[in-house]
Amino acid sequence: MELWTPETWRTKPILQQPNYTDGQALSEVEQTLAKRPPLVFAGEVRALRHQLAEATEGRAFLLQGGDCAESFAEFQADNIRDTFKVLLQMAVVLTFAGSCPVVKVGRMAGQFAKPRSADTETIAGQELPSYRGDIINDIGFTRESRAPDPQRLLQAYNQSASTLNLLRAFAQGGFADLRQVHQWNQSFVAKSPLGEKYQDLGNQIDQALAFMKACGISDANSPQLHETSLYTSHEALLLNYEQALTRRDSMSNNWYDCSAHMLWIGDRTRQLDGAHIEFMRGIHNPIGVKVGPSISSDELLRLVETLNPNNEPGRLNLISRMGADQVEAKLSPLVRAVANEGRKVLWSCDPMHGNTIAASNGYKTRAVNSILKEMKGFFEVHRAEGTCAGGVHFEMTGQNVTECIGGAYQITEAKLADRYHTFCDPRLNADQALELAFLIADTLKAARQG
Ligand code: PEP
Ligand code: CO
Repeated sequence: MELWTPETWRTKPILQQPNYTDGQALSEVEQTLAKRPPLVFAGEVRALRHQLAEATEGRAFLLQGGDCAESFAEFQADNIRDTFKVLLQMAVVLTFAGSCPVVKVGRMAGQFAKPRSADTETIAGQELPSYRGDIINDIGFTRESRAPDPQRLLQAYNQSASTLNLLRAFAQGGFADLRQVHQWNQSFVAKSPLGEKYQDLGNQIDQALAFMKACGISDANSPQLHETSLYTSHEALLLNYEQALTRRDSMSNNWYDCSAHMLWIGDRTRQLDGAHIEFMRGIHNPIGVKVGPSISSDELLRLVETLNPNNEPGRLNLISRMGADQVEAKLSPLVRAVANEGRKVLWSCDPMHGNTIAASNGYKTRAVNSILKEMKGFFEVHRAEGTCAGGVHFEMTGQNVTECIGGAYQITEAKLADRYHTFCDPRLNADQALELAFLIADTLKAARQG
């Protein structure tokens, strides 16, 4: 293996980057960031790696979710709280269904940079650079807004630090109390038009909690009842930012990207000889790679070898995003190839990015039914191959948005205009996200008992 340092990525070809015109300003920001405190600590990152190793072996399940793109404008305590709340609610359902711990990882506190399908956008004859996420430029359609501004890296860092601070407080300060979270779920079931479907599972969880109480399991003797861990993650796209937050851990002497516990590489930037793979191979965080329909088994195996040469479980998460209609045909050979080589990877399912469609009124949307179908297909592939379906990855928000169609409240194409707030891709709202957790409960249960 060639020598790695946090900056060797700079010698490799790189895709999906902004065109900064002021290199001096960028480099000053990078130097400032390099002196800022890390956002996460190596010990926490190692704890997550351990939990993901458990998920790789089928003894835990990964739930990763949050915004497609966080934004500076929507930065508010309520939004952070509500997204965390839904993640907790989903986790209770999945923990019960899978009879195993659910590892919660937010697409939060740093999910700002976005890959785009085109470098420019043209509206009414005017062509401007595409919006690439708030860490890079502004969504407004003017030349000024779209110019990449290095100062935004600092704002993204500051927002991530405050978000993480609040998440830590929520996780440890009583907000995550298991009985309270279950009560929220029971209210969801009671008011949902499809609530009857979920009532049975809700009642079973009720009984399990009553049984635990009768056995004397309480807050006083079991902090697990009212505390939890929420880890953070984002796409490591803007490597100037990631490099500036990469630090050597004094205990292990290893390099960690301390901008988040977990980082992933997007489907558009996973070129074997590219800068993103180069950067990620040297950091010791758990890393994800999005795996879309265009990858071949050979390419995937080479990626796995580069990113996890020592075959350590917990290091590498392959996030399948094939689309509901292709998942079985495309994913099966990949899963088989990885298993045949004895590679220890955590397979999870992103049922969002292969199912984006244009509604007849022009909105970019996704159908809850396609999302469910891809998840079921993903479980089916793993059942057939005798491998482990280890997790799910959602774009979701705690807000009552109308961006994806379907679900118990029947969001139709016509209703998309009501509350379509996303800065990038359409997200599941709180009801849709929780509903999906209920809808895959049986599938997860069958997979873990099989
Ligand atoms: C994303 O997760 O927001 C994303 C852009 O995904 P992908 O790289 O799979 O398209
Ligand atoms: Co997205």
